[in-house]
Amino acid sequence: MGVPAAVAAVLAVVLVLPARGLENGLARTPPMGWLAWERFRCNVNCREEPHQCISEMLFMEMADRLAEDGWRELGYKYVNIDDCWAAKQRDAEGQLVPDPERFPRGIKALADYVHARGLKLGIYSDLGTLTCGGYPGTTLDRVEQDARTFAEWGVDMLKLDGCYSSGKEQAQGYPEMARALNATGRPIVYSCSWPAYQGGLPPKVNYTLLGKICNLWRNYDDIQDSWDSVLSIVDWFFTNQDVLQPAAGPGHWNDPDMLIIGNFGLSYEQSRSQMALWTIMAAPLLMSTDLRTILPSAKEILQNRLMIQINQDPLGIQGRRIIKEKSHIEVFLRPLSHAASALVFFSRRTDMPFRYTTSLAKLGFPEGASYEVQDVYNGKTISGLKTGDNFTVVVNPSGVVMWYLTPKALLIQQQAPRGASWLPLL
Ligand code: GLA
Repeated sequence: MGVPAAVAAVLAVVLVLPARGLENGLARTPPMGWLAWERFRCNVNCREEPHQCISEMLFMEMADRLAEDGWRELGYKYVNIDDCWAAKQRDAEGQLVPDPERFPRGIKALADYVHARGLKLGIYSDLGTLTCGGYPGTTLDRVEQDARTFAEWGVDMLKLDGCYSSGKEQAQGYPEMARALNATGRPIVYSCSWPAYQGGLPPKVNYTLLGKICNLWRNYDDIQDSWDSVLSIVDWFFTNQDVLQPAAGPGHWNDPDMLIIGNFGLSYEQSRSQMALWTIMAAPLLMSTDLRTILPSAKEILQNRLMIQINQDPLGIQGRRIIKEKSHIEVFLRPLSHAASALVFFSRRTDMPFRYTTSLAKLGFPEGASYEVQDVYNGKTISGLKTGDNFTVVVNPSGVVMWYLTPKALLIQQQAPRGASWLPLL
C-alpha cells in the first residue's frame, strides 16, 4: 500500500526544509536599509528640532530619499524606526500606541506611505518592562498582543531589544516572539538583541538556537559615531570568528550594528574600511545617517555596486580574518558563489600609505589557478593573476584595499582557498 497523500505531502515539506534557519523564508541575504538610532537617537525635541526628531516626518523623508536617490534599486529597502516612537502609556486595551504628537497619523499610515514607495517598514520594541530609552516594553504577557499589533500595522521588521529583562525572561521571550510573529501570518523579519545582553558568546549564547528563531541578532555593544567604536566592534567580531562565522548564513545573520558612514566620526578612509569590513562579515547594511544631507563621497561608498553584490552574495558565507601581519596589515577573506572571493587588505598603521607585498599562494589560494581581479573601490582590474605571482597593494592608514577575484581558468578541480578550510568545498 502506498503512503497516504497527506503524509507524503508533509514528508516532502519536511525533506526540502533546510537544516537550520528561521523558517519564515526571509532575509536570505543580509537586510539592507536605514535605521534611525545611531544618528537620531532619542531626540524627541520636535519643537526646536522638527527635522531631527523621532517623528513620522523623519521616516517619511528618509523613505523619499531611499526611493528617489537610487538607494532602493541597490537593495536598501527597510526604513526602520528605533526607540522612542511610542507614547509613554499603552491605551485602554493595553495596546502600544505611537506618540500622538510626533506620529499623528499612526504607524499604519506610515507603513502605507513607505510601502507605496516600494519600501518596507521596521519597528522597535524591547522584551522587558521598559525600552532602553524608558518607553513601554513588551513584557512576557504582551508578546502575542504586540506581535499582532505590529502585523496589523503592516510592519515588515521587528528589532526586539533586551533592556529591563532577566536572562530567564529573555530565554522565554525571544523564542515566544518568534512563534508569535509567525502566527500572525505576516512576513516580519525578526532582529534579536538577545545575545548582546548575554555577552555574545557560548555557553551563555546558543547560536544554533538563535539561527532557528531570529533572522539577525546583535551580538555586541552599540556602535557610536567614532573610529574607536568601529575598531572595538571589528576586534571583537574577528577575535571571536571561530564562534560567530559558522552561525551566519541565509536567513540568519550576525549584526555588528549600523553603518555610521556619512556622519561625523569617520574619515574617508575609515568610512571605506567600515563598508568593506561589514561586507566581509556578511553584515546587514543598515545605514544610520541623514540621507537628506549626505555628502557625495559618503554616498558613493554606500552605493558601490560591486560592494553590495559581494555583501549580498547568495551563498551567504561570512568571511574571516586570515592574516594579522607584524606590519599591522590584516587580510580578510570572504568566499563567494561561482568560486569567486573577496579580499580586504586593512591597515592599522598610523604613518603613511604602506606597500604590502604578498601572493595568493601565501593567502591560501589553490596552486595552479589564475584570477581576474577587480579593485572594488577604484575599478582597476588585473587579468591573469596566478596564485604564485607576487603583487603589491598600497594601503592607506586606517584604510583598505578591497579585491573581488574570479577564477579565470580552473586549471585544476575547483577548490576553496586554503585560508577558507572551514568551508565545505563548493
Ligand atoms: C539599545 C540598543 C540600541 C538602541 C537603543 C535604544 O542600546 O542596543 O541599538 O536600540 O537601545 O534605546
